[in-house]
Amino acid sequence: MKALILSGGKGTRLRPLTYTGAKQLVPVANKPILWYGIEAIVAAGITEIGIIISPETGEEIKTQTGNGERFGAKITYILQDSPDGLAHAVKIAQPFLGDSPFLMYLGDNLIQSDLNSFLEEFRSKKLDSLILLCAVPNPSAFGVAKVDEGGRVLQLVEKPKVPPSNLALVGIYFFDRAIHEAISNIQPSARGELEITDAIQYLIDREKQVTARQLEGWWLDTGKKDDLLEANRIILDTRLELSVEGEVDEKSQIIGRVKIGAGSRIVNCSIRGPVVIGRECHLENCFIGPYSSIADRATLIDVDLEHSVILQAARITGIEQRIVDSAIGQRAQLKAASQRPKALRFLIGDDSQIELC
Ligand code: TTP
Repeated sequence: MKALILSGGKGTRLRPLTYTGAKQLVPVANKPILWYGIEAIVAAGITEIGIIISPETGEEIKTQTGNGERFGAKITYILQDSPDGLAHAVKIAQPFLGDSPFLMYLGDNLIQSDLNSFLEEFRSKKLDSLILLCAVPNPSAFGVAKVDEGGRVLQLVEKPKVPPSNLALVGIYFFDRAIHEAISNIQPSARGELEITDAIQYLIDREKQVTARQLEGWWLDTGKKDDLLEANRIILDTRLELSVEGEVDEKSQIIGRVKIGAGSRIVNCSIRGPVVIGRECHLENCFIGPYSSIADRATLIDVDLEHSVILQAARITGIEQRIVDSAIGQRAQLKAASQRPKALRFLIGDDSQIELC
């Protein structure tokens, strides 16, 4: 059994954070989203992993993620020249996959449950495909499945106007080698992509064994800012353990589960967990409220912050109002101006979103 993680794509929905970096490397609780997927795959006993990368962000993914040693896996990187669809990614990965059955995992997805029971079912029932589903309130935004009582998949539709059910396809699929023949027989969709839903529908139409299982627990597709903040909240809530390696002065107050990385200095701050602060950060005269993640080398001085994700080396100083529900990109600077007249001054990148009151 092998695994194929899809970490190419455009990442348009998370702009501007994804102009300068891969969507799959955006941190959730200070760890790249992609790494949660790798860890879940290795925990299911799969150690031969192919990762699809794009020309724009592939090098960064390779450099940060490495050859797999740190996860106990062997990672092979596969370059996809342009994001021509999930099935196209499988097609170009064929030399890596060979005839092996495989788990396909979208690199921007996070799920709560482990993968072992699904893998066991896929293997023991010798299925051609097992797909994972999750009930959602807005199925029209997803690939949707119609399933019979036994879990057999009858129909799949991509972003339907009239959804046949409320069961969305989670970005996790198990396939045997029959999928390759299916992919070689489908045509690009109206949006010009080779769709994995069309390939699976091809299997269904030929009476192959395609079964669905509903996920228990949460599933997050970290495509947009609010999804990212929600993923951050849930991971901090469920997985963060207290650990303080950095320096905290006696005027600071740490309450609840707070993780502070080595080389960080906390001066006269009140930090109310769950909160994670990376390495070599400098925080002074701040209140940091629950569900905040602050990445390595960030500086925050005279700031009130809550329910937010701050990326590496961002610098925020002297902001009078509390910052909430925010995602601040790498090296971004937010500061109170010293000069008169008192006014707002911006240098804001494309697609940025700012709410002032
Ligand atoms: P999507 O989120 O569907 O696409 P995207 O990354 O282009 O994002 P956006 O909608 O924000 O523009 O892709 C799901 C995952 O699959 C994501 O991790 C990127 C990856 N992917 C590929 O590796 N190759 C592809 O051809 C496509 C379409 C996606």
